[in-house]
Amino acid sequence: MTTEEFYKTLVDPETRQPLTHSADGKTLIGSNGTTFDIMEGGIVNALYPKTLLEDDAREQYLYDQAYLRYDRGVSWVFETLNKSDEAATRRFMVGLMDLKPGQTVLEVGAGTGKDSALIIEQISPGGTAMLSDLSPNMLRLATQKLQPKEVDVHFLLANGSYLPFADDTFDALFHFGGINTFSERRQAFLEMTRVVKPGGKVVIGDESVAPWLRKTPTYATLLKANPLFRAEVPLEDVPANITDFKLHYIFGNAYYVMEYVVADKAPEVDIDLPIPGKDFVDTWRLRAEKATD
Ligand SMILES: C[S@@+](CC[C@H](N)C(=O)[O-])C[C@H]1O[C@@H](n2cnc3c(N)ncnc32)[C@H](O)[C@@H]1O
Repeated sequence: MTTEEFYKTLVDPETRQPLTHSADGKTLIGSNGTTFDIMEGGIVNALYPKTLLEDDAREQYLYDQAYLRYDRGVSWVFETLNKSDEAATRRFMVGLMDLKPGQTVLEVGAGTGKDSALIIEQISPGGTAMLSDLSPNMLRLATQKLQPKEVDVHFLLANGSYLPFADDTFDALFHFGGINTFSERRQAFLEMTRVVKPGGKVVIGDESVAPWLRKTPTYATLLKANPLFRAEVPLEDVPANITDFKLHYIFGNAYYVMEYVVADKAPEVDIDLPIPGKDFVDTWRLRAEKATD
């Protein structure tokens, strides 16, 4: 996919209408006149809203400050968690997408590209990776670190809660490490599912200490030291139109990673199906009468 073809896949993250390329080549323009700059290195700034909500603005600022320390810092966190093998665990997570050469993948919150390198490897040759993040500095570092061969890689600034892509664009989507702090987490889950084709895989993970560890002394200390580890797995934010959901605990069971397949519609219960036999009717009636809500 050429750069110009990449621009054509982008839509206005607010209206979801196509964008046009300005005559000077420096901006993409929405149908209502909103402009999205093409920054140095071809990174498209497709952030929405233009003034980020409080939590997103704070995270963008923090990562923009910390980008040079990030790689070492994050590896240190994983080393503390049961001496976890970061490389093998990242390979496991990316492997959950079952990627094939030639596929088109979106990574949300790609950061400095630690997982992006594995994604690129697995869709090579012929694939397309779109790598997005909220922080210009993190993404700029990713552009310098990644050396793609036989794969098209395109970079964009995008808020995971407002993705600038049409429905059903990608074969798979990956996000690791940011969702706990997104200002609009439920909206982000809807977006990260919307842009994947039915049958495609979504893989999302972040901090959440497994419930059975929370009262052990070392994990209790961890939860006190860094409140992000207290986050619950956001099961209630998963959209209805999915199948084959699986939940894994990784990095010393202090992080979760979930995987699911996008379905074209939500599953349904046939509440008109006749109940098979009186015993069944009685049991269900008894249970319903006993229920308090
Ligand atoms: C902990 S880092 C993870 C980076 C990379 N995925 C990794 O595993 O090393 C979290 C990343 O999410 C990005 N981020 C935070 N909020 C975001 C949002 N609302 N939309 C997109 N990216 C976001 C941050 O800028 C940061 O690069």
